[in-house]
Amino acid sequence: MAKCVLVSGGAGFIGSHVTVELIEAGYDVVVADNMSNCDMTCFEGVQKIIGRKLPFEKVDFCDAVATDKLFSDYKIDAVIHFAAFKAVGESVEKPVRYYKNNLGSFLNVLEAASAHGCHNVLFSSSATVYGEPDKVPVTEETPRKPATSPYGATKQMCEDILNDVVKATAGTEGEIRGILLRYFNPIGAHPSALIGELPRGVPNNLVPFITQTAIGKRACLSIFGDDYPTPDGTCQRDYIDIVDLAQAHVYAVRRMLDGKMEKGCEVYNIGTGRPVSVLELVNAFEKVNGLKLNYKFAPRRAGDVTAIWADPSLANKVLGWTAKRSVEDTLASAWAWEKHIAGK
Ligand code: UD1
Repeated sequence: MAKCVLVSGGAGFIGSHVTVELIEAGYDVVVADNMSNCDMTCFEGVQKIIGRKLPFEKVDFCDAVATDKLFSDYKIDAVIHFAAFKAVGESVEKPVRYYKNNLGSFLNVLEAASAHGCHNVLFSSSATVYGEPDKVPVTEETPRKPATSPYGATKQMCEDILNDVVKATAGTEGEIRGILLRYFNPIGAHPSALIGELPRGVPNNLVPFITQTAIGKRACLSIFGDDYPTPDGTCQRDYIDIVDLAQAHVYAVRRMLDGKMEKGCEVYNIGTGRPVSVLELVNAFEKVNGLKLNYKFAPRRAGDVTAIWADPSLANKVLGWTAKRSVEDTLASAWAWEKHIAGK
């Protein structure tokens, strides 16, 4: 019988792409989401891509009773936890809301998983845990820096919580094994253009801002800072295709479910290993999609790091996963998705 994976926050950008890849790899999936930051567009898109209906549960993981019920209603073999708030700026304004939601939901998932014999927990962490690194690329051994926002702090705290729970439950009936995936900058959309990123209001992230500017929803892209100590003066990041990133979850889940883990809690950088500057990304977007983008240089954005990219060799070697898609293909997929949601 196929193993069953619960995807918390599965109606969102990353969760919907991961759901598709899990189904294509032969897993059963239960999608659960409280729909606080998305509508059913992506969940419906997932069903169109896979050509069938999927179980969906409207659950707020901050509700311990509802979370526990989910684990009794389904026999869940592994859980991938995405359900969290993710806006850095908002987290600075509303720290209590972020700590309550992001920590509370994860604690409930851990408690229910352990109580119901679900031994495998994958947590969606972020390169944000490295802060401004002293050396690039960063490996999993690169020291974490103090978080610069409550959002970043919740990622670090959830990593620590999972490590503690793994230690405390080792060898018990409620044993939990953990994998932390530290994502770099996920961009793009599924090649079908049926699922993708749907930011509410003005996007904070670069690629949705670019595509919304290209389609005419925004007048002009501001490139934050042109005087960074990088080759062209703009920040460098490791932009990773969303389908590549989603596939990393399949490799990680398989490792857990096949009993291949060598440590109770393992951590992997999920990136390409390739630095791309903001200007390079804008130029690549223009070139691959054959259009001109209206942009200007603006002052630096508070809290931005100068340059960060992954050393993904551990994930390459141990998980057997590598990022395959070029930044050009990914930017073409982001544009196709923007046109799809605009009905063009
Ligand atoms: C941000 C978050 C990170 C989070 C990630 C989720 C911060 C400090 N970090 O990463 O914690 O996990 O989003 O995807 O907020 N840029 C522009 N103009 C724009 C928007 C962005 O020039 O309108 C630049 C930024 O200055 C940055 C780069 O584009 O250099 C990428 O920005 P963004 O997409 O917001 O990602 P990060 O800041 O790397």
